[in-house]
Formats: sequence, C-alpha cells, structure tokens
Amino acid sequence: MKILAIETSCDETGIALVEGKKTENGFVFTTIKDALLSQAHLHAPYGGVYPNLAKREHEKNLPVLYEQFKNDEFDAIAVTHGPGLEPALWQGIEFAKKIAKERNLPLFGVNHMESHLISSLAQTQGQTLNQDSQGLTFELKNVKLPALALLVSGGHTEFVLMREWFNYEVIGQTLDDAVGECFDKVARMLKLPYPGGPEISKLADEARNAARKTAGSGYGDFAAAKSPEVASSSLGEPTPPAVSSPLRLPRPMLQSGTCDVSFSGLKTAALYMLREHAKGTPSKAKESPLTEEEKAAFAAEFEDAVADVFVSKTKRALNETGAQTFVIGGGVAANRYLRERLQQLVLENYPDVEFRLPELAITGDNAVMIAQCALTHLLSGDWSLLRLDLDIRAIGNLSIAG
Ligand code: KG4
Ligand code: ZN
Repeated sequence: MKILAIETSCDETGIALVEGKKTENGFVFTTIKDALLSQAHLHAPYGGVYPNLAKREHEKNLPVLYEQFKNDEFDAIAVTHGPGLEPALWQGIEFAKKIAKERNLPLFGVNHMESHLISSLAQTQGQTLNQDSQGLTFELKNVKLPALALLVSGGHTEFVLMREWFNYEVIGQTLDDAVGECFDKVARMLKLPYPGGPEISKLADEARNAARKTAGSGYGDFAAAKSPEVASSSLGEPTPPAVSSPLRLPRPMLQSGTCDVSFSGLKTAALYMLREHAKGTPSKAKESPLTEEEKAAFAAEFEDAVADVFVSKTKRALNETGAQTFVIGGGVAANRYLRERLQQLVLENYPDVEFRLPELAITGDNAVMIAQCALTHLLSGDWSLLRLDLDIRAIGNLSIAG
C-alpha cells in the first residue's frame, strides 16, 4: 500500500510517498520520495516559529513540492491534523483534501506526536544514513510491550506508555516549557541562531572534548558540579568532572516523586547566570560578554542539567511501568549527548529493556513519519484515522492519549 503524506504542523513543509507492506512479524516501509523544505532560516530573526509566516510559507511550498508527486500513483493520503500551530496545520489539511477530492482517495488524519513515536520504533537495516530518508527501508517489528516513549520536541515533552498498540497513556510531561523550546531560548541568550538545539549541542561537545583533554579541570568558568542527589545515585552517568566553580544550573523536579518535568526554572536560572556573568565583564565586551570558551562551557552545563533530569525521570518511568522497550522521539532526540546518557542508563541498569534510538533522518519533523504512522494503523487493520467525507480539522492541542 502506498501513502502520500503531508506534514505542516510547524516550520517544515513535508510531502512523502511511502510504501508499506506487512511482513511475518511486523511491517516494512520504503520511502519512495521524500520532499522537505525547512523555513527555519525565515523564523530565525524571531527566535522561534512565527505562526502566520509559517502558514504563508506552507501555502507557497506545498504546490511546489507536490510537483514531484503529481504523476505518482498512491492508495491514500495522510495529513497531520495536530498537535501543532493551527494556521500551519490548516494549510496541509486543505491541500490534502484537495488531492483526495481530485483523486477520489481516502484521507487519514494523523497525530504528529504518535508519528514521532512510531517512526522512532522503526529501524533501518544497516543502510547508510544521510540527512533525508529517501530510498531508506524501515522495519517495524518485534516491539515488546509495554513500550515507554520519551517524546521531546519544540512543542512537547512527555513520557508516553503504550501497553497495547495505539493505546497511549501520558505518564509524565512538562509542567511548562517544552525542552526544545528551552534549548532554543537558552541558545538565543547565547546569541546563537535558531533553531538553537543543534548549536548548543555542538558547543557543548567542544567543551566536553576540551575538558577531556585536560581531565579533571571541568568545563572552565561555567564548570558543572553535579547536584548531590544525582551524583550519589547510580544513574549510569559519566564520571562528573571535578570542578570548583559555584556556577551551576538547577536540575528541576528531581525530587517531585512523579515523571513530570519542568524547564521554565532552568531557563530563568540560565538567564540570571548569564546576567550575573555580564555584570563582571568589562563594558567593551558588552555585545558578547562571553568568550567562545565560556559559551561552550555554559552550553555543556545546560545540556548536563537537561540530561540529568531525563536520566533520572526515565529511570523512574522504567521502574514504575516495567516497560520492555524504551524509545525516544522528536527533534531533541537528535541530541547526541542525551542519546548517549540514556543509552548508558539502559545498558547499565536495565539490561532486559530494548532501547530503540531513532535514525537522525527521522528525528526532526518530516512527512515520512506521518506516512509510517498511517501505514502502521492501516496495515494492522485499524481504520480509525479515516476521515469520512473529508471531515477533518486542525486541532492545535491534540493529545496522543485520545
Ligand atoms: O520535533 P521537532 O522537529 O519540531 C516540533 O515538533 O517541535 O523539534 C524541534 C526542536 C527544536 O526546539 C530544536 O532546537 C530541537 O528540536 N533540536 C535539538 C537538536 N536538534 C533539534 N535540541 C537539542 N539538540 C539537538 N541536536
Ligand atoms: Zn515534531
């Protein structure tokens, strides 16, 4: 079965054509075509996604991208109908409806977060990875349930438990900002371009590499001392650098007794720390008060704080649910350090849990994941996503839990 999928929930316009087949123990998905246009550079001056600009860009980009697909044959159309920015979602929906009408094809409404989850469970078979997933074959099989997913993106941060296929329970979530949003805002404080997640990650890696070379000296001025509660528990984390600096960001909610997280306090603490630092710098350095080295050290401390929180909360979630599979999905799942820390946690403490890490090609927003999600439902015989009479609307806050 071939599906044409459309994704416009945020600042990526995506159209993909994916073929799905049932196999003995699961499904196989082949990306026939994958067209993706990022608007990130246009939103960069605003430091975040500007909904009306996103809407206009999707409107402009969709027909351009669709040119590549207009001679293709497919059996159904899938479109993201939430969660996301409603003006942006509507563009994809109207476009999908138009094609469905013209071709007299069924239309399926897909949840963006469920797509992150399902596509992260699917695995490539040792193929070379590149930035797009064109020509890639993904297999979705042998998923042991219950499965726990940590979904981390620009708009969402949640622990989702799947006891049965397509049945989701949110067992923890952010009480305020999404972690991707926090990465982007802290990056902005450091005058790094939007989207800031990858920028912070690059800088933090530099600081860690430098610290490794001069082992034991920590991250320099913005050195990271681990919080006592984290350092003393067996969280499967790398040996913290021995440091002396009192400059340290908080690890919020570690003692909350829940799987919930919170990032607004971390963001504010980062802002205050930078302000304090700026006070001490000579006025000629006002424009960019941090040296490159200090910026990198600060980025590493921030990333450490985020990773400490997720390692601790993942441990709690795995203990509480007895999950057999753990998977991470969403844009922030591309973060190398977070991937490593979680992998280490599972390897050392949960040898029976299978950790599925998404291919980088599938972590950011794209239409391939929307197709894979729709195909998983359809090939399982579940037609609940079908929108009869093309009756579909954008739902900005659509939950994965139904
Ligand atoms: O899932 P996604 O592409 O879009 C939403 O659905 O929100 O996630 C985008 C978010 C942005 O906040 C971006 O900064 C973050 O993912 N991100 C990263 C990395 N790559 C993307 N955050 C941390 N480290 C990364 N390597
Ligand atoms: Zn997303």
